[in-house]
Parts: sequence; structure tokens; C-alpha cells
Amino acid sequence: MTWTRWTAGLTAATSLAIALVAFSCTTAQAPPRRTEAEKLARGRTLSWTSGCNDCHTPGTFYGAPDTTRLLSGSELGWQGPWGVTYARNLTPDPETGIGSWSEDDIVRAFRTGRRPDQTPLLPPMPWPSYAQMSDDDAYALAAFIKSVPPLKHKNLDRVPPGATASGAILAFPLPPAWDAQNLPPPPAAASKP
Ligand code: HEC
Repeated sequence: MTWTRWTAGLTAATSLAIALVAFSCTTAQAPPRRTEAEKLARGRTLSWTSGCNDCHTPGTFYGAPDTTRLLSGSELGWQGPWGVTYARNLTPDPETGIGSWSEDDIVRAFRTGRRPDQTPLLPPMPWPSYAQMSDDDAYALAAFIKSVPPLKHKNLDRVPPGATASGAILAFPLPPAWDAQNLPPPPAAASKP
């Protein structure tokens, strides 16, 4: 083989190798973007697998989620040292739901436990679990939440610790010492007999 043919062959082989590496890098770094329909489908799946419907869709905890009132809030109260909370109406109704929130507001709320006005999301809203969600999944879920039919449902207001709630509540006793190690001290009113 002549020197020129040898270098030409080597150059061609090197270019092919570089092209292959470049191709595999491109495919590894940039997964194909989801279409809008795929994004909403992913968000819908996550709303079920992440348990949002358990608490935010009426009937789910009684074995019969009402999918005609998806994510419109539940009037089953959760009582604990934090008072009584109700899973809010997440539909895009502007007055009783979260229609005025942007996708960023929604993602920030379920990943950091803060509403746009900075008030904290109290238990049992399990935002520390959702803090683990990737950007792609979190924004797919937020887009899905914004796409459900708006439903007018003014849920019950949160009840502060020590005050009495009317209606159905699920009451947590004060936590056993093992579970309480990382908790703030219970508010004085809640620790009365
Ligand atoms: C175990 C029950 C439970 C689960 C599961 C749950 N939530 Fe919640 N969520 C709540 C409760 C209770 C509140 C009200 C907390 C409060 O009053 O501070 C709440 C509040 C919220 C709020 C604030 C709404 C507002 O108007 O202030 C958002 C947003 C939210 N949840 C999104 C989600 C999403 C998204 C999921 C699923 C990924 C989810 N939640 C799963 C119980 C739950």
C-alpha cells in the first residue's frame, strides 16, 4: 500500500469513528422531545401513579374515584398537629381552583411545598416525595393539571390547630416518639387532652 493510500484509508476510518461517537453522543444527550399529546398523556399517567387523585379526586379513598370531577378537591379532612387540611381543588377554575397559577407555580408548589404566596403546604400533602420528580415529568404533570376541565368547588377552609372541624375527618393521633424526632413541637392547643 502506498503512503498516500494508507493515510487516505486512515483518515476515512478516523472520520467514521468520530461520526459514530458524535452520533451516539447526540442520541444519548438529546432524547426526542415529547409532542404536546405525549406530554399530556405522561402527565395524566403521573397524576394517577403519583397518587394526586387519591387525595384530590372525590371518592378515591372510598374505592370509587369520580373521574367526572377529576382533581376537584375532597371534603375529607385530615386532622393532625397541623390542624385540619383538605386536599384542594386543583382544576383550572379561576375562583375555587388554581386557574390563576402558571405551570411554574404548580411545579414549584408540589416540588418545594410553597404556594405562589409562599405559604407552606401542610401535611399530608407529600411534596417531599414529588421534590424527586424530573423537570420533564413535573412539567408534563403541571400541563395535564392545567388541561383538566375547570370545576367550581369551593373546598372547606383549613382549620387551625385546636379548633373543631365540622364534617368528615380522618384524625391522626399525636405521633409516637420514634416518628416525632424530626417534627416541630406540636402547637400547644393541639396537645391539650
Ligand atoms: C395524601 C394526600 C395528598 C396527595 C397524595 C396529594 N396531595 Fe396535594 N394537597 C393535599 C392537601 C391536604 C393539601 C392542602 C394542604 C394545606 O392546606 O396546606 C394539598 C394541596 C395541594 C396544592 C396546593 C393547592 C392550593 O390551592 O393551595 C397543590 C398544587 C397540590 N396539592 C398538588 C398535588 C399534586 C400535583 C399531587 C400529586 C403529584 C398531590 N397534590 C398529591 C393532599 C394530597
